[in-house]
Amino acid sequence: MLTETIVVTGGAGFIGSNFVNAWVRHKLGTVINLDKLTYAGNMENLAGISQNPHHIFVHADIGDRVAVKALLETHRPRAILNFAAESHVDRSIHGPDAFIQTNVVGTFNLLEEVRAYWQALPVDEQQQFRFLHVSTDEVYGSLGPNDPAFKETNTYQPNSPYSASKAASDHLVRAYHHTYGLPTLTTNCSNNYGPYHFPEKLIPLVIHNALSGKPLPIYGNGSNIRDWLYVEDHCSAIREVLAKGKVGETYNIGGWNEKTNLDVVHTLCDILDQERPKAQGSYRDQMTFVKDRPGHDARYAIDASKIEQELGWKPEETFETGIRKTVRWYLEHHAWVARVTSGEYQHWLNKNYHERGEELA
Ligand code: NAD
Ligand code: DAU
Repeated sequence: MLTETIVVTGGAGFIGSNFVNAWVRHKLGTVINLDKLTYAGNMENLAGISQNPHHIFVHADIGDRVAVKALLETHRPRAILNFAAESHVDRSIHGPDAFIQTNVVGTFNLLEEVRAYWQALPVDEQQQFRFLHVSTDEVYGSLGPNDPAFKETNTYQPNSPYSASKAASDHLVRAYHHTYGLPTLTTNCSNNYGPYHFPEKLIPLVIHNALSGKPLPIYGNGSNIRDWLYVEDHCSAIREVLAKGKVGETYNIGGWNEKTNLDVVHTLCDILDQERPKAQGSYRDQMTFVKDRPGHDARYAIDASKIEQELGWKPEETFETGIRKTVRWYLEHHAWVARVTSGEYQHWLNKNYHERGEELA
């Protein structure tokens, strides 16, 4: 018999740990959390549930078929949610290998083991089972200033090694549904922000650098647009899709919050000026324009009407409420930031910003 247990992959990362923490907090059942613990995975994100019997951590790679097979046979989950990925666009430009290995080959190996597990289930249990693949809006490519927001029907036009690897994994998931009938669901979400966001990404990097008195590096002229969603709203959307989504479908997730990078950095500086004023001047004085990201996508925007109308999902946070909560979280979790910004992080800063003429390490 299937249990009420779900498997989450990548549950020690930013979005995965928010999802797992919320799942256990809402008492929705047991989560088996399979994570390789790359530089982006952090057990500290799960400290609040480390003793909870409804959270079981398994240290493994999604591409490790022996480990995945054993886990499925032992726990007989009713669903698998695949968050695990290499997720940073700039790292994919410096070193695409890991992106192909995890996002493409890893997802393929995971799908193969899930297919074998699912095919061996009795028919009624096969019908209940779900494989939910967590993906990104970046697979759709870049929008012009007046283009309509991405719909689920947009063509895939990925532009970075990261987005190309995510697009490949989305195609594999689609094919496993179409060919084998695996009950899949795919979500394509816009940029997330919130607690446990690793400070290689724009929002936590700017908060951390601002407080450390370092430059706030803005690629190009800061006019690129991203569509921001508070991470807990992404998690609630995934829960909705898992519960009510139509098998084989994809759902775009976003909060209709398009902002230029300059707008975002200005907002962060202004909130910090209120919450933690400097002795003199504004955090805006630390803003620095640096060499652009190669192939930098100009604009992402999600049309979330399908998930809103078909599943009745709506985000709880506006950008204004979510971003203030986020800044406060970072102000209150200085020790977490200090730990994740030691070690490997310093090498990454050297690699990514030295060539841009900034010494951030
Ligand atoms: P993250 O980089 O913070 O975390 C990724 C997690 O996956 C880490 O815990 C890492 O240890 C784990 N992992 C990496 N390779 C693995 C492997 N081979 N096997 C097992 N675990 C592995 O990423 P995130 O920002 O939390 O993103 C999670 C998912 O959501 C990704 O699939 C990403 O593409 C997608 N997504 C992210 C955003 C965003 O704004 N961050 C937006 C839309 C979609
Ligand atoms: O759109 C969803 C995607 O959002 C996810 O799939 C990715 O996993 C996630 O990392 C994020 O990708 P982005 O490249 O949009 O996020 P990032 O925070 O790296 O950059 C946001 C914008 O800020 C982007 O236009 C690049 C710019 N930027 C980024 C950094 C790190 C800067 O201007 N300066 C910086 O130092």
